[in-house]
Amino acid sequence: MAEITKKPIKITETILRDAHQSLIATRMTTEQMLPIIDKMDKVGYHSVECWGGATFDASLRFLKEDPWERLRKLRDGFKNTKLQMLFRGQNILGYRHYADDVVAYFVQKSIANGIDIIRIFDCLNDIRNLECAVNAAKAEKGHAQIALSYTLGDAYTLEYWKDIAKKIEDMGADSICIKDMAGLLVPYKATELIGALKDSVDIPIQLHTHYTSGVASMTYLKAVEAGVDVIDTAMSPFAMGTSQPATEVMVETFKGTEYDTGFDQNLLAEIADYFRPMRDEALKSGLLNPKVMGVDIKTLLYQVPGGMLSNMVSQLSEMHAEDKYYDVLKEIPEVRKDLGEPPLVTPSSQIVGTQAVLNVIAGERYKTPTKECKAVLSGEYGQTVKPFNAEVQKKVIGDAEPITCRPADLIEPELAKIEKEMAEWKQQDEDVLSYALFPQVAKEFFAYRKAQQDKVDLTKADTENGAYPA
Ligand code: CO
Repeated sequence: MAEITKKPIKITETILRDAHQSLIATRMTTEQMLPIIDKMDKVGYHSVECWGGATFDASLRFLKEDPWERLRKLRDGFKNTKLQMLFRGQNILGYRHYADDVVAYFVQKSIANGIDIIRIFDCLNDIRNLECAVNAAKAEKGHAQIALSYTLGDAYTLEYWKDIAKKIEDMGADSICIKDMAGLLVPYKATELIGALKDSVDIPIQLHTHYTSGVASMTYLKAVEAGVDVIDTAMSPFAMGTSQPATEVMVETFKGTEYDTGFDQNLLAEIADYFRPMRDEALKSGLLNPKVMGVDIKTLLYQVPGGMLSNMVSQLSEMHAEDKYYDVLKEIPEVRKDLGEPPLVTPSSQIVGTQAVLNVIAGERYKTPTKECKAVLSGEYGQTVKPFNAEVQKKVIGDAEPITCRPADLIEPELAKIEKEMAEWKQQDEDVLSYALFPQVAKEFFAYRKAQQDKVDLTKADTENGAYPA
């Protein structure tokens, strides 16, 4: 019998980032993560995605945690596993374009604090918006992965994907990820897409998808058979629904085949046992809404990523307009077309989603355009695959001249100015970056941190003065 050539499929575990971002609004705390990372470190993951995306904002805003401190603690615990983050190109982790000096400094500090692999994407797939972050990652000897936001539409042919993949390889990226945030990639299309990409480039290809439309694990199966190198999965308690396929299920699927991961299912079971009570608690408190756990086949029709769905539900319920859910779902593809048919991923997903909500609620399209919608139509986010709807553009930006260059070319260096602005709060270099990304939220966090420290100092002084028994 012929020996089978082993080509173990590599796995990126997402439970510390995308999984809880997708299912429980990014509310997992560092304290909840730390007790299990010793076991996670023994699994043999290709990498653990644990930082970036919404975790940075959520840490500062809701959890009152320093995201940099989280990263350092995770780095300390993961001795053998590569740590991965998600990075929105020129937006970093925020919602506007930053100057190149801020982008480069953020990359430098991320790597210095423990990140190995930076997954960089742009919501419009405008690769000019990735150059600065990729160059910075290379300069710091990090692994620069470029993620292409997967989407459907007339412009998104196999030729489009092959062509852009080639450009990415030429840019010097270490690997490519197809980032299917909405779960739009169906199994046999994955065969075609991964096959085409493998033909086009030599660097490794990773696939990232969400379970939203119910096809994700089949899509992985076909992608693996077509030669994909790495897949993203989440431990079962925070898998499926708007999150990723379950790690244990994929591991078992490939057991005994040429793609066998070699992972220990008993170890995985112990890790799952650790996270399961967290899931139960989230279900009980309502943080995990059972609505996002089912199969939503409408995502294939409306191309709405998981996170966007849950945002929309809460936006509508705040306005007591839950009955407009399906009207908004119908408006989303219309807004998307008006804005040049971009992929729907942060922040384009929020921009399109919020504008669709406003268009429906106002009863007149673009009566109340958001600042971000105006920015897109002014070219401030970069180039879309298709042209904008000229009529809509005129209504929203009037006679203003849209820009066509790489947007960051118009932004002066801003790091020094930002540092000066926040000097009174600075306790570590990284604070400048927290402030650069979320000025208001960071300031509130810094004030909170200061108050905590003062409290500790007071207690210490009292203890030293013998006010408390030792
Ligand atoms: Co994702």
